[in-house]
Amino acid sequence: MKKDIKSRIDYLRNEITRHNNLYYEKSSPEISDAEYDALVKKLEKLEKEYPQYASKESPTQKVSGLASSSFASVKHAVPMLSLDNTYSAQEIALWYDRTLKNAENTNIEFIVEPKVDGVSASLTYVNGELVTGATRGDGETGEDITENIKTVESIPHKLKDKNGLPDFFELRGEVYIDKDNFADINKEILENGGQKFATPRNAASGSLRQKNPQVTASRKLRFFVHSFGSVHGKDFKKHSDFLDYCKKCGFILQNDIKSCKSLKEITDLTAEMLEKREMLRYEIDGLVIKVNDLQIQKELGYTNKSPRWAIAYKFPAKQATTKLLKIRIQTGRTGIITPSAVLEPVELSGVMISHATLHNFEEVERLNVNEGDTVLIERAGDVIPKIIKVAKKESEGFFKPPKYCPDCKSEVVKEKEEEVAYRCINPECPEQFRRHLIHFAGRNAMDIEGFGEAVIDQLLKRNKLHSIADIYRLTFDDLFELELFKEKKANNLIKAVNESKKQPLSRLLFALGIPHAGEKVSEIIAKQFKNIDAAAAASVDDFIKISEIGGVLANSIKEFFENGSVKHVIETLKAAGVNMTQPESQNSGAQFEGKTFVLTGELPTYTREQVQEIIKSLGGKTASSVSKKTSYILAGENAGSKLEKAKELGITIIDEREFIDMAEKDK
Ligand code: IVH
Repeated sequence: MKKDIKSRIDYLRNEITRHNNLYYEKSSPEISDAEYDALVKKLEKLEKEYPQYASKESPTQKVSGLASSSFASVKHAVPMLSLDNTYSAQEIALWYDRTLKNAENTNIEFIVEPKVDGVSASLTYVNGELVTGATRGDGETGEDITENIKTVESIPHKLKDKNGLPDFFELRGEVYIDKDNFADINKEILENGGQKFATPRNAASGSLRQKNPQVTASRKLRFFVHSFGSVHGKDFKKHSDFLDYCKKCGFILQNDIKSCKSLKEITDLTAEMLEKREMLRYEIDGLVIKVNDLQIQKELGYTNKSPRWAIAYKFPAKQATTKLLKIRIQTGRTGIITPSAVLEPVELSGVMISHATLHNFEEVERLNVNEGDTVLIERAGDVIPKIIKVAKKESEGFFKPPKYCPDCKSEVVKEKEEEVAYRCINPECPEQFRRHLIHFAGRNAMDIEGFGEAVIDQLLKRNKLHSIADIYRLTFDDLFELELFKEKKANNLIKAVNESKKQPLSRLLFALGIPHAGEKVSEIIAKQFKNIDAAAAASVDDFIKISEIGGVLANSIKEFFENGSVKHVIETLKAAGVNMTQPESQNSGAQFEGKTFVLTGELPTYTREQVQEIIKSLGGKTASSVSKKTSYILAGENAGSKLEKAKELGITIIDEREFIDMAEKDK
């Protein structure tokens, strides 16, 4: 038994060391952060229960990182420690109580900061001048990455304070990458045939530890300051004084740093930040709670690897590893065949996950993924997680696209070589029709409540649906005989079907599914032509004249209206009494109705997508270039030529705060 414990401890130590190497050296972990944290907790527990096996060499006793590498080494003036962490609210409460008790003070102020998911770096300023930039390394000694650090825009080379600069200032912070830039870097890496980074943290770390500083410079790294090591010639009383001073010196601080005076304030803030997490332009993986008073910090002191005056409260994990059991292929409404992943169930942010998206077969090839592999999955905001990478290759090669439609068995084609999608082009394919019915009745299309997949499947089985227009021919009896249908439910569905006849043309066009045209384009066409006959009679040129519609789309719309079966469906829907016109304005009352926004620079809190979504939801539009038609220019940090042009044209310039105020007005 004892021997078993010892070998379990050895195994965990080796595993943790191996994962440290993958994380710090290769920037390419095999497991998620949460799975790594769980391994460390397991080892800590065993070492506590069996102190006879304690060892100074255990990874639980040291700050993990790299002790040696091909970079020159730098000894930190004050060691760079790590943070104790937990995912549990209960443990935070225990830490909070312990802190008040140990400090013999019931009135402590805490500073709570987002925990930026990046790489820590130490910057040394001598008489206000940046002389060294280093990684954390093993905590005592880091790697000299000064030249790379100097390429990070938000790191000042000279501190701005005019009077009383500290003669020695060792400050620490997090080098990170914005979500948008992370996506761009991965795109570029893939285009060059490389392996993409699994997280922005890996990308920041990989980019920071480049031998060529020009590569680092191209990666648009950023920096937030969060703590300090050795300081001579400057005295801070509080952590917040230190942060304020850094701001004065020219550093950019995070927006969401808050002061909390009770556990309740901390837990409320955690809930708030969990909500906000997806909206931030950079990744955070939790909050860091710190005692503000530096004298109290000193009294509380340190363990051998972390301060007692701070703790990381980590958010539920977004990533996990699991086995890819099967790749399922499905035919969609437009005939496109898509692969999706069936996974060995795994828990992710409190939900059991058993499926993931795989986008298309090009992605499958890029990931080099096949059934049986262990994969790293991520669920970020979206409902269905995606596969980030193969964590462990356990099968040969990648899963190949099918030769035949999984439903109607007709041959699958790739219409053009450069096209990504494989399609079933059989116009009679039953699965395409089934998917089209689901789409037609869906929430964003005709919105027929109660007409979901289960009802559609039953009606198809009973041969009640042969064309889209058959939906409007269904009788009470057709529905009453369905499973789980009683009089009331059948009547409600008939009512919902009838109600849907009144939907505006924009929804009808989207429901009919013009190839390449989504909701937005369907709405533009509807607003422009007002009724379906006018839209059907329009020429390719008429469509091209609309600024949002290009040549390919214009041809696709024309082809759609000329298609015999589309014409037939439109006529039968008309005969059934379905509305074919667009009412005057769908958005009246929305505060951005008729307004066009141009975005430039980086906003402090919201991502571009987020802002675009808000503008759209309030009836406005976004455009990519400034013209006389622009109503507002929303400018953030590092705004460039667009801002200049806006000034020339006298366009109103607003910042993120003003924008949010406008969006929230009259709500
Ligand atoms: S304070 C003694 N504040 O998290 C260490 N760290 O897991 C004091 N981190 O090594 C660090 N955001 O690199 C602090 N707002 C924040 C942070 C933060 C990210 C990193 C830091 C640290 C790691 C611990």
